[in-house]
Amino acid sequence: MNILRKRATRIILDASLLVGFVAEFVTREGPDYSLHSWIGVVLVPVVSIHVAANWRWVTSAVRRRTSHPEWHLARFNAVFSAVTAICIATGFPVWLEWSDNSAWGAVHNVTGLLSLVLALSHLWRNRRRLLVLVGRQTAVA
Ligand code: HEM
Repeated sequence: MNILRKRATRIILDASLLVGFVAEFVTREGPDYSLHSWIGVVLVPVVSIHVAANWRWVTSAVRRRTSHPEWHLARFNAVFSAVTAICIATGFPVWLEWSDNSAWGAVHNVTGLLSLVLALSHLWRNRRRLLVLVGRQTAVA
């Protein structure tokens, strides 16, 4: 989709994800978990659109595997996505009290902290792309 390739769209998406993850960190200890949980719910479509905007890169990495110049980043991104998906999914049983098994909370807390660290690492690993996006560096062909 053309709109997803627009620079402004990408900047808004990436900035929203940064704000969203920081907000999850800030609200992680409650006392009222509604805000924290709703931010997590909003993050689901934002993350999905972010992945859709980078879908060409994802399919190229999956197709070329080890011959892709950024295969290491593709593997890192796959781990980051899986950890974040587990974190978001395990937030629901705790928030909505579907189960009183404390394992949901324990898994959510661990994957939550891990996904915050991985989010920072994801930003750092993509720092050149981000600098090109905000016009601080020119793209290398
Ligand atoms: C990427 C998104 C998310 C991140 C990074 C995240 C991160 C965290 C972290 C680090 C904690 C642990 C707080 C602590 O004890 O130090 C936590 C707790 C919690 N989160 Fe999330 N969270 C996310 C999404 C969600 C979602 C989508 C929900 C609800 C649907 C949710 C509901 C909760 C609840 C209820 C707790 C308290 C758990 C407990 O008391 O055991 N979170 N979150």
